[in-house]
Amino acid sequence: MQLTWYGHSCFLLETDEHKLLVDPFLDENPAAPVKAADVAADFILLTHGHFDHVADAVAIAQRTEATVIANFEIGQWLVKQGLSASKVIGMNTGGALDAAFGRVKMTLAHHSSSLPDGSYGGSPGGYLLEVGGQRLYFAGDTALFLDMKLLGVGGIDLAVLPIGDLFTMGPADSIEAIKMLGARRVVPCHYNTWPPIAQDASQWADSVLQRTAAEAMVLQPGESVEI
Ligand code: NI
Ligand code: MN
Repeated sequence: MQLTWYGHSCFLLETDEHKLLVDPFLDENPAAPVKAADVAADFILLTHGHFDHVADAVAIAQRTEATVIANFEIGQWLVKQGLSASKVIGMNTGGALDAAFGRVKMTLAHHSSSLPDGSYGGSPGGYLLEVGGQRLYFAGDTALFLDMKLLGVGGIDLAVLPIGDLFTMGPADSIEAIKMLGARRVVPCHYNTWPPIAQDASQWADSVLQRTAAEAMVLQPGESVEI
C-alpha cells in the first residue's frame, strides 16, 4: 500500500484496488501540493465537520463518485449539499463497517465538529482501519486520551497523529499517545499549515526515537511512502 500526505490532515491511502482519501482540504490549504480537481478517490473518509477536514469533500465526491464515510450527522449534511444518499455512509463512535477496501471503525476523539455553515456536525472521531493485512489509525483532530490504550489492543501498524498543538494534541502529548497505542510506525499531521500550528517535525521525530519504540515517518506535502 502507499500513503501520500497532501498537507494538514489530508492523506491518500492506495491499495491495489482502492483509493481512500482522508479529510480532503486542498484548494484553500496553503500547504497542499494538489488541487481538489486533481485527486482520485473511490472512498472519502471524514473525521469531523471542521472546514479544514471537509472543505473539498463534496466537490471531489461529485466528480469521482466516491463513497463518503463520515459520522451520521455529517452524512446527512452531505446529502443536503447534493450528494446521493447511496454514496454516503453514516457511522457513529465505536461502530465498525466492512467496506470494499477492508474494515473501518469510527473511534473516539476529544475535539468539536461543527460544519462550515454552522450545522451540527455530531461527534468528532478518528478511524481504525484494517486494510491489506495492516491496522492503521487515523486519529483525526483530538486531544490525548487514555482510551488510546484500548485502540492499541491488537496492535497498530501505523498511526497518523496530529502534532500541531493549539487545536489538537501537540508534540509532547503525541509521544504519550504513541506509547499508549503501541504504534509500530507513526506519521505526524495537522502542523505547519499555518503559523499558529508550526512545529519542528525533525525535533519531534528525535523525541519519538528516544522515547518510544515507534518509527517516526515525517513526510513532506506531496510525498508518498510504501507501507
Ligand atoms: Ni478540527
Ligand atoms: Mn483541524
